[in-house]
Amino acid sequence: MCGIVGYVGKKNVAEILTGGLSALEYRGYDSSGVAVLADGKTKIYKAEGKLQNLKDLLKEKQDEIITAQVGIGHIRWATHGIPNEVNAHPHTCNCGKLAVVHNGIIENYKELREQLEAKGCVFKSQTDTETVAHLVAQKYGETQDLKEAVRLATSELEGAYALCIIHQDVENTIVATKRNAPLLIGVGEGENFAASDVPAIIEHTKRAIYLNDNQIAVLKPNSIELFDENNNKIEPKVELLPWEPIALSKMGYKHFMLKEIHEQPDVIRNFLSGKLHTANETTKLDEVKLDKNTLKNLNRIQVVACGTSLHAAMVGKYIIEELCEIPVDVEASSEYIYRKTVTDEHTLVIGVSQSGETADTLTAIKQSKARGSHILIITNRPDSAMAREADSLIPVNAGIEVSVAATKSYVAQLMAFYLLAIHLAEIKGSYDNSALTELKNELMLLPQKIELFLTKTDKIQKCSRMYSSSKNFIFIARGINYATALEGALKLKEISYINATGYPAGELKHGPIAMLDETLPVLSIMMKGKVYEKILSNAQESKARNARMIALTDSTDEKLDEIFDYVLNVPSVHELISPIMAIIPLQLLAYYIAEFLGKDVDQPRNLAKSVTVE
Ligand code: AGP
Repeated sequence: MCGIVGYVGKKNVAEILTGGLSALEYRGYDSSGVAVLADGKTKIYKAEGKLQNLKDLLKEKQDEIITAQVGIGHIRWATHGIPNEVNAHPHTCNCGKLAVVHNGIIENYKELREQLEAKGCVFKSQTDTETVAHLVAQKYGETQDLKEAVRLATSELEGAYALCIIHQDVENTIVATKRNAPLLIGVGEGENFAASDVPAIIEHTKRAIYLNDNQIAVLKPNSIELFDENNNKIEPKVELLPWEPIALSKMGYKHFMLKEIHEQPDVIRNFLSGKLHTANETTKLDEVKLDKNTLKNLNRIQVVACGTSLHAAMVGKYIIEELCEIPVDVEASSEYIYRKTVTDEHTLVIGVSQSGETADTLTAIKQSKARGSHILIITNRPDSAMAREADSLIPVNAGIEVSVAATKSYVAQLMAFYLLAIHLAEIKGSYDNSALTELKNELMLLPQKIELFLTKTDKIQKCSRMYSSSKNFIFIARGINYATALEGALKLKEISYINATGYPAGELKHGPIAMLDETLPVLSIMMKGKVYEKILSNAQESKARNARMIALTDSTDEKLDEIFDYVLNVPSVHELISPIMAIIPLQLLAYYIAEFLGKDVDQPRNLAKSVTVE
């Protein structure tokens, strides 16, 4: 993942670079660094740990860098080599004149490193990126042309990269390029920028050039030149960024995650607006660009996604199969891309991704696109790489999600699947009309119900404190809420580091039950409907093994208090949309446990918001 930023211009370079890196912190936060050209020298500053450490260092060194008019910065999520100062970017070559920041993975770095070492290059770090520094420096030695050196060097690289490079002998210039990793160029006046993502530059400019793979940009204060991989000069296409500078404020909440959980009622309202006016009307989903006939005759849907988005896809499968009678396969993108998958022009392939940049999902949809499938993307980032590949694009409009643990974007993705399924069912006539009306009505009532629920979280807080010392946690559910069990467990793992697993409740007796004893909490998700009684029996099996019992339910059955130590009640909802209601208390449970344990809720260890490496 990692985030990179570059600046050439007359403002305070260190401030612009660290400001940009702050906005990219969601991409990684285990170490950071900058390189600037000041007083005719390349100067590199790095710090292990949070970005604040680098900011403190740069403050101390401000006299050394005050004259700089060009610089590059990096925030790291370690892939090759532990997160320490040596492995932090920027990396340099033997003479120390060149500096490079990199996002991605150079797959053939070992071979390249051997070749470069044989030629006398001395490596200091364990990173794949240092190979790029030495390789470009060597090509620069041969050509005395930085852009050409980058072009020649990158033609030898395999893997993914977004790169920004500066050289002591090439005044006020950044050379930037990319392949399978995001990079955009911010167009300013008397200054220019490069960055992995919009938030890093939006404060300074609303005009940008999205680089395509293998293009090389040469940035100077008053010019941007763009070249293709064959060195042909091309006209840059400047786009207006659809973003307002965002004041990333916690609005009084202790953490972004808590704020984002509380934003969910509005996220649902926002998603419905313009798509569903009243329950009696049909849905309006103009985003789906397939004609009615093709939609009617769809005989297969494949959904690819990772992590939380994968769980949204699992709910999507359930609801589409229920309402539309179209078989839906859901697969982790990382598995999908390394096997023979059967897709063709009659298959609709849906990619789901909050960030729209997840490398595995991006590769999966590119593969399916090449086989002729229509690609529908559900994402919170309509400006992302996936959105650019889409034939149909459903932006979920959840607003920027800062916390690494996805909450509101998940609920927004679920909304996208509900509306898509209802829309398809309306076109196909595959579901009873009055049942569809009831479902739409329930969707419209959801925001109020969640709002009401969010006013009374005392019991969840108490329950969280009670179970915060548990080493393990089991979540069980059945049917449409199996994905909720997985997502609840993922949230808890991500931010509290407690080992949590979600199981289909019926599977408990096929193995996991062996783990149950009086130390292990089992949280049963028991939303009213088809499988309520079944899961109650599975919960009883856990009780009989002395497990610590928690229920999450919209039932008001008083008998539950006799079976469970804690009953977490939520407002009653339609069974088919219960995954949206049920996930809210589980997000809160994870949040309060992590907060009680004093964990870094918004930036959990080892994670990043946007996973742009395979
Ligand atoms: C969610 O809390 C996680 N941070 C993670 O599982 C995430 O959902 C996954 O990496 C997929 O990301 P995407 O939605 O941006 O593709």
